[in-house]
Amino acid sequence: MKKQVKGNVTWVGYLDWELEKFHGDDYSILNGSSQNAYLIREGKNVLVDTVWAPHKDDFIENLKKEIDLKDIDYVIANHGECDHSGSLPALMAEIPDVPIYCTANAVKSLEGQYGKRGWNFHTVHTGDTLDIGNGKQLIFVEMRMLHWPDSMATFLTGDNILFSNDAFGQHYAVEELFNDKANQCLLQKEAMKYFANILNPFAPILKRKLEEITKLNLPIEMIAPSHGAIWRDNPMQIVEKYAAWADAYQEDQITIAFDTMWNGTEKLAHRLADAIYAQSPNTVVKVFNIAKADKNEVMTEVFKSKAIAVGSPTVGNSILSSVAGWMEFLRQLKFKNKRAAAFGCYGWSGESVKVLQTKLQEAGFEVVGEPVRSLWNPEEADFEKMDALAASLLG
Ligand code: FEO
Repeated sequence: MKKQVKGNVTWVGYLDWELEKFHGDDYSILNGSSQNAYLIREGKNVLVDTVWAPHKDDFIENLKKEIDLKDIDYVIANHGECDHSGSLPALMAEIPDVPIYCTANAVKSLEGQYGKRGWNFHTVHTGDTLDIGNGKQLIFVEMRMLHWPDSMATFLTGDNILFSNDAFGQHYAVEELFNDKANQCLLQKEAMKYFANILNPFAPILKRKLEEITKLNLPIEMIAPSHGAIWRDNPMQIVEKYAAWADAYQEDQITIAFDTMWNGTEKLAHRLADAIYAQSPNTVVKVFNIAKADKNEVMTEVFKSKAIAVGSPTVGNSILSSVAGWMEFLRQLKFKNKRAAAFGCYGWSGESVKVLQTKLQEAGFEVVGEPVRSLWNPEEADFEKMDALAASLLG
């Protein structure tokens, strides 16, 4: 269903209430999502992005209710990933000659995914403009590696809308479309989860890009991302948040993540939480069983933390496979400015804490404290060692 965004801009995307996973099964969707596409009707008619292929029939049917497809003058492909380009093959089959404006890297990703179909690509660079009539222009801003090499944002003058694609988005279904109508807690949480789990590896690039966008002096009045709510009320709030998040973000929080075989490592985790609280009651402490908790929700808590502790019993001279997989994801996210410690039970060889410390170091954490290694079930002497570990994590 179309929705008015501002002026002659309407939302023509797909509200995905049923979506549960994204990027295969790698990202959990707990509050729905959307693939936002936009139709601009000025002297020229412009479609900004499309939706994922499973929804292409709905998308095209709805678009046809809004406009005769033959009246679309330009298509803007801000990003080649299939949640935004998936309907292009079906759409372009109906309007094969319409120019597609995108980056040179987007030509590569679109042709890589859909084959060379002879689409009428017009490649653009940062600062290039496209006149769309009625005194309005589109200004293109390359967003390389945010989060694909092909990513781009498009600014509409006059209405002063930044179509930012994935940047500033959230996997969060907002029927009412705008940030001021959304549940504020969920909006902030989902925006942070998106940043922590998808954009954080590119934080240094993002920092430079935000400075570059600031220098362009675009009078941004609205930020319309390709997922979730449109930032209408104080749109710069999310830009300011991104600037803070991209700068080795942390809060006064410590997250403890573990898996356990016979509950010994679990007991150590809970004792560590008690020790942190005893020493610093204002520090937020979160405890998660890696094997049971939602990976992306836990990583959002890690993102907020100034320190983490990871626990695993020793198994096969190493750590539990659940913890090993989690540690690999942790490494990919390239968190910065965080301390970390290791703990775990063992029966004979006891390598888990050393393996954990090595992996934490490889993931960019400052490993602190004497790891707590407990033979068989933890005893009082082991629990008491958690006081020193808590002190190291608190710094
Ligand atoms: Fe929402 Fe990178 O696609």
